[in-house]
Amino acid sequence: MKKEHDNDRAIKQAVKDHYAGLVSGKSCGCCSPTVTGIVGFGQSNYTSNFLEDVPGEAAAYSFGCGNPLAFAGVKEGQTVVDIGSGAGLDVIIASRAVGPEGTVIGLDMTPEMIKQGQENVGKAGLFNVLFVLGEAENIPIDDGIADWVVSNCVINLSPDKEQVFREISRILKPGGQILISDMVVDNLPDQLLESLSAWTGCIAGAIPEKDYLAAVAAAGLEQISVIDRMDYDLSGFKPLLEEYFPGRSESLLAPAKEQGLRVSSIRLSAVKPNE
Ligand SMILES: C[S@@+](CC[C@H](N)C(=O)[O-])C[C@H]1O[C@@H](n2cnc3c(N)ncnc32)[C@H](O)[C@@H]1O
Repeated sequence: MKKEHDNDRAIKQAVKDHYAGLVSGKSCGCCSPTVTGIVGFGQSNYTSNFLEDVPGEAAAYSFGCGNPLAFAGVKEGQTVVDIGSGAGLDVIIASRAVGPEGTVIGLDMTPEMIKQGQENVGKAGLFNVLFVLGEAENIPIDDGIADWVVSNCVINLSPDKEQVFREISRILKPGGQILISDMVVDNLPDQLLESLSAWTGCIAGAIPEKDYLAAVAAAGLEQISVIDRMDYDLSGFKPLLEEYFPGRSESLLAPAKEQGLRVSSIRLSAVKPNE
């Protein structure tokens, strides 16, 4: 097991508390369009065909920044692992794609999210899904079992993204693929970098796209391709910033825009080479 720094532990605890609070109604302010009004978060990323017959809570508690499984070539009988599965929307979509002979594993480090995901999958009447409580940096899943690893707006929250990609590579079968939607950020102001709250809201933990892709490559994955990219309208982040830095959102945002702050969601694919 990899040794963690105290700061990494503090970040993870803040992330856990935040997402536990979101599903139990105790906290707010994250990647959620209902809270922030930002287009491009949560269920707004899914066209209606993906949301058909999905339990209301799975869609309402969707805190992703994309739809990683859109146009994916997932086949019946395959195994899909969703890293940071949250309330289970992508797990439900994957479960339907792999069918009764396939398996979907939802991994999340927040017990409240695991419970929410289990309830939603139960309501959807799906029997090919299991949830595992655990961390993306030390995935409690055997080597080489996944045809696909998907993830939606999670790895930006990890203090050790390279380790997450090494773990993802380990659990993939040779020839297995990843499909990941996540946040990337360029020219982030220092004040935001230092804020734990901004971290839990998917901003401060995000890294530049080139560093993100380098972490994927360092894990030995190949054919790395950014399939879509969406740049957020920065003024949409004002209410979120106001929450983290009361009375200072404008004074933070205006110079940051001038310094070239760019916040984007990317969807990327990559393949584990055949041995
Ligand atoms: C922004 S939410 C996204 C949830 C879900 N993927 C979705 O699209 O709605 C982040 C989720 O990832 C989980 N998470 C964050 N960091 C994690 C880590 N290092 N290991 C496992 N789960 C993590 C959180 O508990 C939370 O459920």
